[in-house]
Amino acid sequence: MKGIESRVVIVTGAGSGIGRAAANLFSKNGAKVVVGDMNKEGGEETAHQIEKEGGQCIFVSVDVSKSDDVEAMVKSGVSRFGGVDLAFNNAGVALGGALHEISEEIWNKVIDINLKGAWLCMKYEIPEMVKRGAGAIVNTASIAGHQADVFSPVYTASKHGILGLTQSAALQYAASGIRVNAVSPGIISTPMSASLESDTGMKEWLMGRIAADRIGNPEEVAEAAVWLCSDAASYVMGHSLVVDGGFLSGPPFNQK
Ligand SMILES: NC(=O)c1ccc[n+]([C@@H]2O[C@H](COP(=O)([O-])OP(=O)(O)OC[C@H]3O[C@@H](n4cnc5c(N)ncnc54)[C@H](O)[C@@H]3O)[C@@H](O)[C@H]2O)c1
Repeated sequence: MKGIESRVVIVTGAGSGIGRAAANLFSKNGAKVVVGDMNKEGGEETAHQIEKEGGQCIFVSVDVSKSDDVEAMVKSGVSRFGGVDLAFNNAGVALGGALHEISEEIWNKVIDINLKGAWLCMKYEIPEMVKRGAGAIVNTASIAGHQADVFSPVYTASKHGILGLTQSAALQYAASGIRVNAVSPGIISTPMSASLESDTGMKEWLMGRIAADRIGNPEEVAEAAVWLCSDAASYVMGHSLVVDGGFLSGPPFNQK
């Protein structure tokens, strides 16, 4: 894909699922990859997979909710590869429950990782892209960013926040040659969704809503993220690309 080869890309949450698939796909397209994750074992495994295929990468241990960590991750990319061109801010957690039952700790954790984490990543990535005079960023939202998820108001709030943040950032940095977009996965087979898949009742409920009649693969979301970062998406700004097998075209989350 044009505009990916030889570029430096930061991928967070790259130690598992969608982030790992994207890190591998960026590398297959010739990018140099900063593999960011708080899970050292998962991150190192992704870096190993990339290097085994002849790609260039570094693993950086990062908690995206911590400013110092994120700043250090971006600096590592700059010192190893000379700058930052692209970013897939994807790290996230899916926690929640009824809003009157969750603790303040859970609320803070979900917002700090899913929403503040994306802001912190952009805060440190964008100045590097400004130095280059160009850049492309993709933030991971969710179908729960487009439609309320009856199961987790805090997750819904964090992902609605990502869409607003993405659109606002797209407006602020278009003049600097930086495109900011989002990708909104549906139900994707990763460790995050394992509990949904193993709950027979839940899986049946979900399958009744997915037009594709199957759960998605992380590689299918990775394709969308890499495309949004590529030159093929040069006129796409502030957009959320939904990759959900038709989920959002069906009935709302709260309808049986
Ligand atoms: N799997 C789905 O069905 C689905 C659906 C919609 C949206 N998403 C979103 O996709 C993104 C990736 O999820 P996934 O399905 O690949 O899940 P996953 O659990 O497989 O991967 C998430 C990764 O993020 C990392 N992470 C978590 N907190 C972090 C932190 N504070 N700092 C750095 N890394 C951290 C984890 O260690 C893990 O490697 C998330 O933002 C998630 O909300 C997933």
